[in-house]
Amino acid sequence: MEKIVILTGAGISAESGISTFRDEGGLWAQHAIEDVATPEAFRRDPDLVHRFYNARRAQAAEVAPNAAHLALARLQERHRGEVVLVTQNVDALHEAAGSRAVLHMHGALAGALCARCEARWPAPMVMATRDACPICGAAATRPDIVWFGEMPYGMEAIWQHLEEADVFAAIGTSGNVYPAAAFAQHAGRAGAQTIELNLEASQNTRDFAETRLGRASVIVPEWVDAVLGN
Ligand code: APR
Repeated sequence: MEKIVILTGAGISAESGISTFRDEGGLWAQHAIEDVATPEAFRRDPDLVHRFYNARRAQAAEVAPNAAHLALARLQERHRGEVVLVTQNVDALHEAAGSRAVLHMHGALAGALCARCEARWPAPMVMATRDACPICGAAATRPDIVWFGEMPYGMEAIWQHLEEADVFAAIGTSGNVYPAAAFAQHAGRAGAQTIELNLEASQNTRDFAETRLGRASVIVPEWVDAVLGN
């Protein structure tokens, strides 16, 4: 049976009410990346960075998965071949929809990390610079989010999945940020059928053999129904 590898981006969570990054009024229109999403920003002003992620954690706790998240959970449930779900998103909407083994390559709002000893634990709703690491006691706790300039999680396994994929689908991502923006080319070169499902053509739309445009809550369930043959 076909192995399907899926990459999701902020666009799949947009209709659940979570801001994307690069759309009109998106997160990067409200905050400069270099002020809230880099290791230097955290060293310079950890309180500002914690405030930014505390606000995103609070927003993520208020929202529910939409029909696109639910359709991907159904695909994982029903498809007889392997379905690998990689997300750039740090919200937990795939898990809330029933997806399992979600690969959060950019980390997760639900995770906390000690910048000193690298211990990880479930993040409290509100994190503060003075919080002590439960393992080493240092006041060095940070969101377990991959910032610009840091290495995304799980890359070795992800490249391997892309080489084994029969189908690679990118959903709700603008194709602006690497390495995720290279996944379609990597999978295509290894023989996968490539499809993008997005509100508008992404930056790397040329890497995809097929493009379906529309809102994720509409086009993702349609695509899943077609894949499942019903
Ligand atoms: N349905 C489908 N696609 C949508 C919808 C929707 N309802 N709304 C917006 N989109 C699309 C936009 O057209 C855009 O192409 O989702 C994409 C969102 O792009 P970005 O805001 O750039 O988000 P993303 O691609 O996930 O960003 C990647 O950049 O800032 C970093 O680490 C951050 O993980 C993030 C990475």
